[in-house]
Amino acid sequence: MIQRRSTLALLAAAASTTLLSTVAGRPARATGNKPTIAVIGTGEVGSALGKRWAALGYQIVYGSRTPGGDRIKTLIRETGHGASAETNANAAAKADMAVLALPWVATENVIKGMGDLSGKILMDPINGLKVTNGRFEAPPGLETSSGEMIQEWAHGAHVVKAFNTLSREVMEDPAAASGPVTVSLAGDNAEAKARVGAIAADMGLVPLDVGAIYLARYLEGMARLRIAFRAKNKPAAIEFHLQSHQG
Ligand SMILES: NC(=O)c1ccc[n+]([C@@H]2O[C@H](COP(=O)([O-])OP(=O)(O)OC[C@H]3O[C@@H](n4cnc5c(N)ncnc54)[C@H](OP(=O)(O)O)[C@@H]3O)[C@@H](O)[C@H]2O)c1
Repeated sequence: MIQRRSTLALLAAAASTTLLSTVAGRPARATGNKPTIAVIGTGEVGSALGKRWAALGYQIVYGSRTPGGDRIKTLIRETGHGASAETNANAAAKADMAVLALPWVATENVIKGMGDLSGKILMDPINGLKVTNGRFEAPPGLETSSGEMIQEWAHGAHVVKAFNTLSREVMEDPAAASGPVTVSLAGDNAEAKARVGAIAADMGLVPLDVGAIYLARYLEGMARLRIAFRAKNKPAAIEFHLQSHQG
């Protein structure tokens, strides 16, 4: 508990002190005192995070294959707070932080089409999944984790595996769970993780820096466990709360 409190205190401090600091020498853009976030992908996760973050004061620019389409116009209206939409590449260019709310199969192409992502913080909530004979497994081609593969494709960006272990309902409202919910963070850049953790804390969730990006493979396994549990026990669902302690 003590360590959790001190972690949260650190993240709160990071939120107030790093918003105008730099990642890889680039200034973080801020609206008021909160950064602009590019939300790449406008499905369940993109729209849930975009609406919630906009309500919390973050400036949201959606990235979409069809930024001018009727569905996106409705999403912008529902999001409010000055939200806008662009192509994926233009949205990424307008923000120093982006969430990749994408299907795993589309991720490589979308990232490679977004141009130079050096210095940007890329939040990765992606869970590649293949269901075979009732078994929930990683799909072919995903031997490590999406977090590690995105870090290779977007060389120079700071990938943070985050938000993949929780359900969309909890992203919309943490009270949907019956207790605290952890947002586990895996990545190789400490400042990037602190900044993503500050956003999670702002949402009423409990950020926990679990370590380097290779640990994304275990966070993706946790997500498959959550999804398999729900498929078998619907409407029951599970959420993760990891407690750190001193020995
Ligand atoms: N749903 C959950 O509860 C949940 C929870 C945690 C993590 N996740 C993970 O988060 C990621 C997004 O999940 P989601 O539920 O938001 O998925 P989704 O509803 O299918 O939305 C994905 C979005 O990605 C964009 N996209 C870009 N290229 C695409 C392509 N070739 N095919 C299809 N869509 C494409 C689309 O937005 P545009 O049409 O605007 O381009 C689409 O709306 C997934 O990897 C999922 O495993 C989901």
